[in-house]
Amino acid sequence: MKKILIANSKGGSSKSTLALSLAYCLTQNYKVCLVDTDTQGSINNFKQYVGIDVVDNLDGNYDIAIIDSPPYLTNQLPELIKNADFVLIPCRPNYFDALALSGIIGMVKGKKAGIVLVQTQHRVNISDVIDTLKEYELPIIKQSMSQRVAYARVAMQNPFDTDDVKAQKEILSIVLEIFSAING
Ligand SMILES: Nc1ncnc2c1ncn2[C@@H]1O[C@H](COP(=O)(O)OP(=O)(O)O)[C@@H](O)[C@H]1O
Ligand SMILES: [Mg+2]
Repeated sequence: MKKILIANSKGGSSKSTLALSLAYCLTQNYKVCLVDTDTQGSINNFKQYVGIDVVDNLDGNYDIAIIDSPPYLTNQLPELIKNADFVLIPCRPNYFDALALSGIIGMVKGKKAGIVLVQTQHRVNISDVIDTLKEYELPIIKQSMSQRVAYARVAMQNPFDTDDVKAQKEILSIVLEIFSAING
């Protein structure tokens, strides 16, 4: 089982949104489970509505586990990072959020990991934020996840059941980049 951990100690940085979106994408071809390690349980809170298995442990027979994590540096995090095949670190496109990544980035040294820009907006120039992120010397996923209604609604509707083809393509591109990092 491949384990993809989504981590960033800032709340509101699209961790749970990405976890669900990636899981919905992967479930088209793989046996996928979601693990919500957030004690505030954002995904756990509505797991009966999510068409994906939300599990408490990784004993089941799945191809891929997507692991969501809480908006603080939990003491579980070192163990979660150690066991992950890939750590995906979402970052909103602003300077404060970019600087705030230093803690989590210090923890993923030697792991396969990448930063993905999230909640990006069309035509907003974020080259200064990208320059800041480059200083971390961690790969930056080429595809960002833009601001879209299909993502804001992901807890209620699978974006792959909507006609938002752009959202579907973005998520698939992110998945493919993660796969090539895991296999590379
Ligand atoms: N790409 C996006 N487009 C639109 N809304 C988004 C996007 N990513 C996150 N959101 C919204 O932003 C809020 C915070 O996202 P969430 O995934 O809960 O962050 P986290 O899990 O990191 O705290 C939620 O209301 C979510 O619906
Ligand atoms: Mg969350």
